[in-house]
Amino acid sequence: MFLKLAPSLVLALVWAFTPIHATTPTIVLPANGTKVAPGAQFAFKYDSIADSTVSSYNFTVVLFTQLPSSFAESSNYAAGYTFGQFDVANYPAIPYAQHPAPPFLVMPDFSKSLGWGMGASISDATFYLAVFEEYANGQPSVGPRISLSINEIVYNSTSAEENQDYGETEAQTALSL
Ligand SMILES: *[C@@H]1O[C@H](CO)[C@@H](O)[C@H](O)[C@H]1NC(C)=O
Ligand SMILES: *[C@@H]1O[C@H](CO)[C@@H](O)[C@H](O)[C@H]1NC(C)=O
Ligand SMILES: *[C@@H]1O[C@H](CO)[C@@H](O)[C@H](O)[C@H]1NC(C)=O
Repeated sequence: MFLKLAPSLVLALVWAFTPIHATTPTIVLPANGTKVAPGAQFAFKYDSIADSTVSSYNFTVVLFTQLPSSFAESSNYAAGYTFGQFDVANYPAIPYAQHPAPPFLVMPDFSKSLGWGMGASISDATFYLAVFEEYANGQPSVGPRISLSINEIVYNSTSAEENQDYGETEAQTALSL
């Protein structure tokens, strides 16, 4: 009887007492406060929450040019732009990244119009680069957990010489810092 119960008991105890070794998910680049010009390339590097006991699935990079109003249906929920959905290799969930994030992203020029959309100009605007990461640890959850990391970006700084505009080589160099 005891021998039959022991494995599940041990497992339960391990679950109850194992600390979660999650890395804090972090947007390394662009650093908080980075100035980015409209249309400029900026270095992107994200440290996933994946760790020895934490699996990461996909993360989605969204730029909020206006923060979300509230968690409710709205046709004016927020404003911004989605850069895409990416993944990082992390064994055993994702042995090989299927769509790794590029080393740099391109900031849209939001003054441009597209279709019915009228662009607008702005300078020294605070934007919010957000990463939503789907992940799971050893503790049951209905659906993957979702973390949120945010770095602020200054769009179209009037101290223009400080705006970041990386070429590919510079983006690669920044990545190896
Ligand atoms: C980024 O900078 C802003 C303004 O200084 C600050 O409020 C925010 O907490 C910082 N965010 C991070 C992730 O450090
Ligand atoms: C990650 O997202 C892609 C689509 O971008 C999807 O095909 C894939 O199934 C997702 N992977 C996981 C583990 O959710
Ligand atoms: C950037 O800022 C300058 C100076 O305020 C302004 O003339 C220009 O229209 C802005 N550009 C965009 C794309 O918003």
